[in-house]
Amino acid sequence: MKTILVLNGPNLNLLGTREPAVYGAQTLADVEALCAKACAAHGFSLDFRQSNHEGVLVDAIHEAGRAQADGTLAGVVFNAGAYTHTSVALHDAVKGSGVSMIELHISNVHAREAFRHHSYLSPVAKGVMAGFGVQGYALAIAALAGMG
Ligand code: DQA
Repeated sequence: MKTILVLNGPNLNLLGTREPAVYGAQTLADVEALCAKACAAHGFSLDFRQSNHEGVLVDAIHEAGRAQADGTLAGVVFNAGAYTHTSVALHDAVKGSGVSMIELHISNVHAREAFRHHSYLSPVAKGVMAGFGVQGYALAIAALAGMG
């Protein structure tokens, strides 16, 4: 059984209490449960992580690239939070590792402030999911499953 890595960046540990009008009332633990259910439905196991630190996220992407090359990982659903809009290092990590990555945002970043409209990750993503709330995680897992 292959694994899907769901990787969350900065401030996503605050889900549930952070700007609920934008991100909803569900906690990161709720999101993990939702992802576990979606992975099980598609025959994958789940590796679910969150870090507020850019380098930790870079390391996780490198590890994911190696696991995909080994045949044990199907890909990554990545909500990089604000690093989406700032991080050349994460762009390079995805590109350099060769991992299949779906960029995910809970909110519709294109309907928000202009500084959220640019993403360093979109050019290296297989696809982009934004604005579907936390349900987007399940949709992204289904999309990765469909990529075989
Ligand atoms: C986010 C959108 C980002 O702009 C923001 O910095 C986040 C969360 C989202 O899930 O909608 O932290 O990635």
